[in-house]
Amino acid sequence: MAEKSKILVIGGTGYIGKFIVEASAKAGHPTFALIRETTTSSKPDLINKFKNLGVNLLNGDLHDHGSLVKAIKQADVVISNVGHALLGDQVKIIAAIKEAGNVKRFFPSEFGNDVDRTHAVEPAKTAYATKARIRRTVEAEGIPHTYVSCNFFAGYFLPGLAQPGAKSPPRDKVVILGDGTAKGMPVNICDAEYMNSDKFDLVAAVFNREDDIAAYTIKAVDDPRTLNKILYVRPRNNTYSFNELVALWEKKIGKTLEKEYIPEEQILKNIQEAAPPTNVVMSIGHSVFVKGDQTNFDIEPYFGVEASELYPDVKYTTVDEYLNQFVLEFISNRA
Ligand SMILES: NC(=O)c1ccc[n+]([C@@H]2O[C@H](COP(=O)([O-])OP(=O)(O)OC[C@H]3O[C@@H](n4cnc5c(N)ncnc54)[C@H](OP(=O)(O)O)[C@@H]3O)[C@@H](O)[C@H]2O)c1
Repeated sequence: MAEKSKILVIGGTGYIGKFIVEASAKAGHPTFALIRETTTSSKPDLINKFKNLGVNLLNGDLHDHGSLVKAIKQADVVISNVGHALLGDQVKIIAAIKEAGNVKRFFPSEFGNDVDRTHAVEPAKTAYATKARIRRTVEAEGIPHTYVSCNFFAGYFLPGLAQPGAKSPPRDKVVILGDGTAKGMPVNICDAEYMNSDKFDLVAAVFNREDDIAAYTIKAVDDPRTLNKILYVRPRNNTYSFNELVALWEKKIGKTLEKEYIPEEQILKNIQEAAPPTNVVMSIGHSVFVKGDQTNFDIEPYFGVEASELYPDVKYTTVDEYLNQFVLEFISNRA
């Protein structure tokens, strides 16, 4: 059996990065994490967890070219999970990869919507454009790559049922962006069963649990089918329009919620009036729930592959299963 690639994670101590590091180590890849000096003391529990998983911790910083090159030379594959503020600075990783000369695959920090297929308004538009610019630089430099388009992190959007700022699902009233449906195309145009189902023109958002996203990402590392492709995490069972999501929650709690629908015109006005970072979240919501940007295109083999089709052995958590954890809390609070 071929040896597993050595994986370096940059941004491995961040929200999604920690899942990627864990999945890599647990899948048996020699795993390296670039850690800033200050992080060793600011996130001691996570650092200890990494140590217990056998992760090799390398001191370094995105802004320290020497430390980047040194770290990259120890790995075959580089996965970047840097956050919003550093997306454009990934040109520094690209320069270091070029200098190191040994990298078989680079995964830039994406982990969201497909930035080449978006209808987002500002401020999300600029963030997506920055990710797209990094894609173009990777391609111009001839670096083998995979872009992970995992759509929504479940942990960000499902606990509050996509209600801004909410930490648990609504109990009485729910605010729905647009009309709650989004005209979109199915997961796979060849999937006749799906096309004939009720969901066909109701598709809107895709919610995936973070450890599942990480499992799919690590599976893709040594897979020739994902080379120079976009890996979409778009399982059919995790694809819901806003109305479908609300209906699922209502069914679980046995209660009909009051619904307020916000028309697109009002959403655009609200985005303009909101301060950061609320306006970023709102513009992402508009792109997904009104424009259907996570589902309004087919995944064509020349540019992409779908993770749950590629790796049916990954038993991902469905949205239906995910929401069960909040039902008990709802019932006990009602009692
Ligand atoms: N699909 C979704 O729902 C969704 C939601 C949120 C984010 N995302 C995307 O996920 C990706 C990662 O975002 P995130 O929110 O997980 O990131 P995050 O939590 O902000 O983590 C950022 C990581 O970058 C590291 N970092 C910061 N400055 C650095 C430097 N100078 N040198 C090296 N490392 C540095 C941080 O290290 P320290 O621990 O040292 O600070 C941390 O590990 C982004 O592309 C973002 O757009 C997607």
